[in-house]
Amino acid sequence: MNYGFIGFGHLATAIYQGLKNEKDIHFAYFDPMRKNVELPFLQPEELTAFADVIFLTVKPQDVVSVLEQLRPLRREGKIIVSPVAGKSIAFIENYLGKDQPIVRIMPNLAIAYKKSVTAFATHHPNNENVNEIYRVLTKLGKVVKIDENHFDLFTSVFGSGPAFILAFLNVFRNKIREFNLPESEIDELLVQLTEGTLSYFSENHSRCSIEELIRNVTSKGGTTEAGLNYFYEHQMDRLIEGVLEAAKNRSIEMSKMS
Ligand SMILES: NC(=O)c1ccc[n+]([C@@H]2O[C@H](COP(=O)([O-])OP(=O)(O)OC[C@H]3O[C@@H](n4cnc5c(N)ncnc54)[C@H](OP(=O)(O)O)[C@@H]3O)[C@@H](O)[C@H]2O)c1
Repeated sequence: MNYGFIGFGHLATAIYQGLKNEKDIHFAYFDPMRKNVELPFLQPEELTAFADVIFLTVKPQDVVSVLEQLRPLRREGKIIVSPVAGKSIAFIENYLGKDQPIVRIMPNLAIAYKKSVTAFATHHPNNENVNEIYRVLTKLGKVVKIDENHFDLFTSVFGSGPAFILAFLNVFRNKIREFNLPESEIDELLVQLTEGTLSYFSENHSRCSIEELIRNVTSKGGTTEAGLNYFYEHQMDRLIEGVLEAAKNRSIEMSKMS
């Protein structure tokens, strides 16, 4: 199959990175700025003719101009894949028609390392090529079919989530600058902390809840308990929930913009 990216920024690069060794997929892209990348650059008309699968990897504010550009072009049998935050399948159908198979996805940048958690929705669940795209995405991490009305929360937790987790880690990072270690060593320590925590979680989650895993590393009257008391007394759990709500609400707002 031929995959074409309209817009070749962060996400398209990550998807390409994750898929570039697939033997049966050929790639090309269009972007206003020609990029220094190994895949062919094609003008939008050529790209649309080339691609069986067209990825709309542009920012939400640019998607209307792309859809207007696609509207008059021959698109029979082609699948449109949109990761665009806040833009529904119905929104895209308004430009391309209801017969156009559209797949809405919400991945994150870990798709480059085949570790994305990707939401998947379509109005054409019986289309063979749509199901093939689902199968290909499962090679790039976990894929979950969800109702489109859950995409705003999914975008907040799994699309923006890596940035929130990194912002949390950055607080740790700024604190351990007190050690006066080289910056790269600080990063390595944080990577180890994160990987160790994730291994502890992934090895044990099938038999222990997160609360139990926290209890297992919390001695009565100890340092972890002191930190956690501060965490809950200052309602940091509520604050973090607020972060997720803010991102979700922004996704809802964006879905109302034309
Ligand atoms: N990044 C993520 O982690 C992530 C995760 C999930 C979903 N998404 C969604 O994926 C989409 C792309 O995000 P991104 O982070 O990859 O954005 P990005 O890095 O800004 O990439 C978008 C690219 O599209 C180009 N572009 C602008 N107008 C265009 C047009 N008319 N035709 C073709 N290309 C055009 C941009 O060029 P200029 O820079 O010159 O304008 C840029 O190179 C967004 O809608 C976002 O909601 C992103």
